[in-house]
Formats: sequence, structure tokens, C-alpha cells
Amino acid sequence: MILPIIKYGASVLRNKASVIDKGDDFENLSANMFETLKKAQGIGLAGPQVNVLKNMFVIDTTPFDDGTTPKIEKAFFNPEILHFSDENENYEEGCLSIPGIFESVIRPSSIEVRYRDINFDIKKEKIGGIEARIFQHEYDHLEGILFIDRIHKLRRKLINKKLQKIVIGH
Ligand code: NI
Repeated sequence: MILPIIKYGASVLRNKASVIDKGDDFENLSANMFETLKKAQGIGLAGPQVNVLKNMFVIDTTPFDDGTTPKIEKAFFNPEILHFSDENENYEEGCLSIPGIFESVIRPSSIEVRYRDINFDIKKEKIGGIEARIFQHEYDHLEGILFIDRIHKLRRKLINKKLQKIVIGH
């Protein structure tokens, strides 16, 4: 089932998500979120973006598939970031909740994470590259943080009109 994607300006995007339990129908929810993400041709989607204030997100790197890097299609439940690398990198991000806006964001290049997978088994991994980038962006959503909060103040001022258009367009 395709779920409506909540756009910038909605308060649900600014709230903190809560722990997801096994009883929360997480399999059905993640299946719907994968379907929604594929249709939107995005690479990541977090619970609050579909009005579910639960600690979960899905990643699907299919739109980036160049045949050389392995495709990542994974659901993450109750994710935690245990460690950030000292090394940072700049990357242009976008967000399905903030359509039409793309800005460079500096984030750690690699992270160590813990989460529950689709079988609700605990996993601990060190991740880098595009997966680490998407993970951090989606993890922010669970804290009520958006990528535009992490850009330079001057850039934020410059895109403010565009942001207000998204709010009005609800
Ligand atoms: Ni986003």
C-alpha cells in the first residue's frame, strides 16, 4: 500500500519518534514504506514521514544502482548510532518531505550502528559510503531533525521562500 508522504511544515516531522515493538506490525509497515519509497524514487524513508512516530526507517539504493556497488534494501528498527568517524564528508542531500530542495550537508563518513533487522534480530555494524549517509539522514528524522537544519545559516535563509511554498502547498 502506498502511504502519503508528509511534507515540510507538518508537526509530525518535528517530533521525536518512540520505540517500535514486535507487536507494532512492523513487517506490514516496512513493506508499505518500501513500496512508497520505490514509487517516490527516493533512497530513504523514515516513520515520521508517513505519519508513524516510531523508530524505524527503510533504505533502498536502487535509484543509485550503477552495477558496481552492491544494492542496499534494508529496514532498520530502533536504530542507534554508537560511534561517528572523525572524518567528515560533504554530500548533496534531498528529502521526500522537502521536495525540490537539495543542499550540501557535512556528516561523518562512517558510523558504527546497532539496530533490529527485518527479523527483529539485533545487528551491530560499521557502515560507510552512501549507506552511512542515508542512515544519518533517516536517523535525524526520528529525532525531529531535518537536513535543512544542518546547512549553513545563509543557505537556509536563501531557501526560506521555497520552504514556505512547501508549507502553503499542503
Ligand atoms: Ni528525509
